[in-house]
Amino acid sequence: MERAIAELQRPFLSAEQIAASHLSMGLDTQLIDDGTYFLIEREGTAAGCGGWSRRATLYGGNHATALRDNRLLDPATEAARIRAMYTDPDFVRQGIGRVILELCETAARQAGFKRLEMMATRAGEPLYLACGYQVIKQVDRMAENGVAVPGAVMGKPL
Ligand SMILES: CC(C)(COP(=O)(O)OP(=O)(O)OC[C@H]1O[C@@H](n2cnc3c(N)ncnc32)[C@H](O)[C@@H]1OP(=O)(O)O)[C@@H](O)C(=O)NCCC(=O)NCCS
Repeated sequence: MERAIAELQRPFLSAEQIAASHLSMGLDTQLIDDGTYFLIEREGTAAGCGGWSRRATLYGGNHATALRDNRLLDPATEAARIRAMYTDPDFVRQGIGRVILELCETAARQAGFKRLEMMATRAGEPLYLACGYQVIKQVDRMAENGVAVPGAVMGKPL
């Protein structure tokens, strides 16, 4: 995750914005506790990870406590979340992100959700666009060090 954040965002963000990203991005272990997080292995190593959530938190790792909202979403009226998508830089553009999104979409659909949404990084946006997600609104995520990191809320009907 740390290498994905540091290396794969370089074409999209300044060094200052990448440093700010580390303050909010990372794993929310609630996803593992909920059984909604996937790890893809290739060649015996962890090549990528990502998940979905039936909880209101839109994004953020364990350390980003201000972003946490554990409220359970209503599948009939609210969108489930796509969360914490990371591919090891040694395994990018091999379809791992796409596979994880498909696993998430199937599981969220089975749980009764009609829609998925996420806070997309600039580095994540091309993957989500390729998989049928649309930009709902552009946002600046303010990191604790006061640096604005551009992103977008994106979504897709299931
Ligand atoms: C976003 C991320 C998870 C994509 O993972 P990935 O496993 O490389 O994605 P895939 O190989 O499944 O890509 C599927 C398609 O998405 C698009 N895509 C993915 N990354 C792209 C990029 N950097 N530039 C342009 N298109 C891209 C392409 O259409 C690609 O298909 P193609 O390779 O056949 O052209 C990875 O780049 C990453 O970890 N980034 C840093 C962390 C991050 O910002 N995560 C998103 C949090 S919201």
